[in-house]
Amino acid sequence: MRVSGKLRVPGDKSISHRSLMLAALARGTSRIEGILPSADVHSTAGMFRALGVPIPDVTPQGMTVTGVGIDGLRAPNADLDGGNSGTTTRLMSGILAASPFASRVVGDASLSKRPMHRVAKPLTAMGARFEFEQGDGLPMTVHGGALRGLTWHSETASAQIKSAILLAGLVAGVPVEVHEPAATRDHTERMLRGRGIDVRSEGNVATLLPGAELRALDTRVPADPSSATFFAALAALATSGELEIEHVLTNPTRTGAFLVLERMGARLGWEDMRDDGGESVATLVVAPRRLVGTVIAPHEVPSLIDELPMLACVGSRAAGETRVSGAAELRVKESDRIATTVHNLRAVGADAEELPDGFVVRGHDRPLAGRVVTHGDHRIAMAFGILGSLPGNDIEIDDPDCVAVSYPTFWTDLDRARA
Ligand code: S3P
Repeated sequence: MRVSGKLRVPGDKSISHRSLMLAALARGTSRIEGILPSADVHSTAGMFRALGVPIPDVTPQGMTVTGVGIDGLRAPNADLDGGNSGTTTRLMSGILAASPFASRVVGDASLSKRPMHRVAKPLTAMGARFEFEQGDGLPMTVHGGALRGLTWHSETASAQIKSAILLAGLVAGVPVEVHEPAATRDHTERMLRGRGIDVRSEGNVATLLPGAELRALDTRVPADPSSATFFAALAALATSGELEIEHVLTNPTRTGAFLVLERMGARLGWEDMRDDGGESVATLVVAPRRLVGTVIAPHEVPSLIDELPMLACVGSRAAGETRVSGAAELRVKESDRIATTVHNLRAVGADAEELPDGFVVRGHDRPLAGRVVTHGDHRIAMAFGILGSLPGNDIEIDDPDCVAVSYPTFWTDLDRARA
């Protein structure tokens, strides 16, 4: 199979959520170009509309958001719906914890099973009150109000926890400091800084000091490296050609999967590297080569956490063993991604095994065939979609439409890349 041409994958999901949140909380108007128009980002827009912020249609062609200020949110008169989106729900928890009203937050079946105590704990220590109806998951009611400052040592390396605390500090106007066991994506810190807020990052510690006003800012959202990984993997596994993926975010907290693909033998290069609005972007060029398995170490995991299902699928086509550990967080993503990845690899004839905190995949080159059960998990659908598009493989995805969560045009882009 030959790959060719240029591709621009949609806007980064993490930055899209944050650009909406910060535009809504700033005073004045912010223009956002290149936002990801996916179901998860619609969940964030919907929450703000329910909180009285007039968010226009979410469109990558450019949207203008007129913010209401950090004290301008109104009490919602219905439940706030996080849909499938953990980022929406956890980051909004920080904002709601500092807002002087109660909000009940709900989500779909997958989101309702995901742990929320991880944000409720620090936000409770700041003075908010959380009510849970069933264990650790949604629905939950956030009783917000005046908060006190916090220094928090997070047990889990999670940008969502860190961001919830930083956003609570921002809205409440109190100092916060978050210590993480490993550095995670730093978009919240960079974007707050770009909008005038005093946020410092040193090692794995992020500190926000109150006092400055959050300024409105025009943003261009770079292409999502997590979405680009699917096509980098396709190009690495092809038999000939070369694929160019344009304007990809190259923030080092997000590019671990590309380093791993390179280590496995893929020919991968960056061109036209430049700075764009506080983040670096570049064109990623990938060409195939015979791949070999690799060991992905725990310290690499935060930089490629969402890419692990795809890397496991790549491992199933590489010579030798691919092994990942220190990735227990995968069990609490949109599905239990250790179980769903390994179960589906086995269902199509690959050799894979679960570890408590990762997996082992042994590659072979016999054709793979069978049916994949995604459990509605977009990244499982796309990872196995790439595997299924390779010559000789015959893989059916039970719910191809679930890609709408992060990449609504995935299937048409896949058709185009396999020219
Ligand atoms: C995200 C952080 C990560 C990631 C998720 C997006 C973010 O989650 O898996 O897709 O935008 O902050 P955790 O912070 O829970 O690891």
